[in-house]
Amino acid sequence: MDDETAMDNVTLDDERLTREDVAHLEWARTLARGGWGRVHPNPLVGCVIVRDGRLVGQGYHAEFGGPHAEIVALGEARSSAEGATAFVSLEPCNHEGKTPPCADALVRAGVSRVIYGVAEPGKREGGGADALRRSGIEVVGPVWGEQVGRAENPAFFHTHTHKTPYVALKLAMSLDGRIAGAPGESTRISGPEAEREVHRLRTGFDGVMVGSGTVRADDPRLTVREVSRGRTPVRRLILDARGEMQANAALFDDIADAPVHVFTRQDVDEGDIERLESAGAQLHPVPHDQNGLELGAVLSVAWEIGVESILCEGGARLAASLLREDRVQRVYCMISPITLGSQGVAAFSEEAESLDWSRFSPALAPETHGRDTLIVLDREGG
Ligand SMILES: NC(=O)c1ccc[n+]([C@@H]2O[C@H](COP(=O)([O-])OP(=O)(O)OC[C@H]3O[C@@H](n4cnc5c(N)ncnc54)[C@H](OP(=O)(O)O)[C@@H]3O)[C@@H](O)[C@H]2O)c1
Ligand SMILES: [Zn+2]
Repeated sequence: MDDETAMDNVTLDDERLTREDVAHLEWARTLARGGWGRVHPNPLVGCVIVRDGRLVGQGYHAEFGGPHAEIVALGEARSSAEGATAFVSLEPCNHEGKTPPCADALVRAGVSRVIYGVAEPGKREGGGADALRRSGIEVVGPVWGEQVGRAENPAFFHTHTHKTPYVALKLAMSLDGRIAGAPGESTRISGPEAEREVHRLRTGFDGVMVGSGTVRADDPRLTVREVSRGRTPVRRLILDARGEMQANAALFDDIADAPVHVFTRQDVDEGDIERLESAGAQLHPVPHDQNGLELGAVLSVAWEIGVESILCEGGARLAASLLREDRVQRVYCMISPITLGSQGVAAFSEEAESLDWSRFSPALAPETHGRDTLIVLDREGG
């Protein structure tokens, strides 16, 4: 990120902040991303310690229950932390959790200034920033608006205020907005680098969800294979109202490593339940309406079984239903330089023209993965 773009994120009107400060804070934000797949439901946090313009320590929260970013960075800086400035992407914690509070550790290390990116959600006062100020440390922050905090840790912010899973929708699409060459057909759209990125994305979610049309067309596995696995196995959530999934579906090949949860209508046949259960699926009957399974009920069950974040990977109909009901907080569009033409499946089905996108806007800079481009849109308010 260049200096100008970094400065654009600054919402604080504070003369104590130099361009170098902002760049250090951006670096803490970038470092934080190293914890993806290993720390959720905790947030990604990065920390940089700088003394006399020299970086003397850096770190990120790398493992759930492990040391926080500040502790890692202080450990690297050792005595150089004395009189230094600590840059932390999220407000340092002030509560005794799995590890002692970072605010105390910063005080003990003799840091003289703390600059932090985003306030801990829901904490107006009584947080780490207050504790640091009371100890005589100069504190500058929050430097960024909440939208930056949400962009980096969307599920963490969402579940702080909602008791429903955070839902991100990911679709691989052609330049002409198609997700398959023809209805019911399986089409390879993304290149290998983009596929690897999707596997990496999966590691940061509790569950991956698809509709029955996708299972029928693609017979996907939806596991993490191209990159190292996340801390917890990703649970596969399938919306199969009529319980038609076959016991030889590829999803069941990995059942020992990653559970399969199948959501069906309540009036599904006993025989179908037995077939799916003996294949290893956990069945969840939920109410339905004319559009299919009631998505509110599906998400409530997911929440009850501990799935706090979901990456929905299609297909077109399920994507449209989730968007129509305003249940999507983020959209990942992985766009490939190909065109599939008018026979192709439109990304958001025939409902595309009636969807309201006014609350979505770019959350992160577009990324290239091989020949593909990833665009990330967040819904206002998370
Ligand atoms: N490029 C990509 O990123 C991507 C990703 C996924 C899929 N695809 C492609 O998309 C096509 C499949 O898409 P699709 O639209 O046919 O299928 P889909 O969205 O995967 O599944 C739709 C089916 O899910 C079930 N469902 C249950 N409750 C629902 C609800 N509330 N809303 C919507 N669906 C609900 C319904 O079938 P039942 O009544 O039978 O349960 C419905 O027909 C395939 O060609 C596949 O290759 C592409
Ligand atoms: Zn901490």
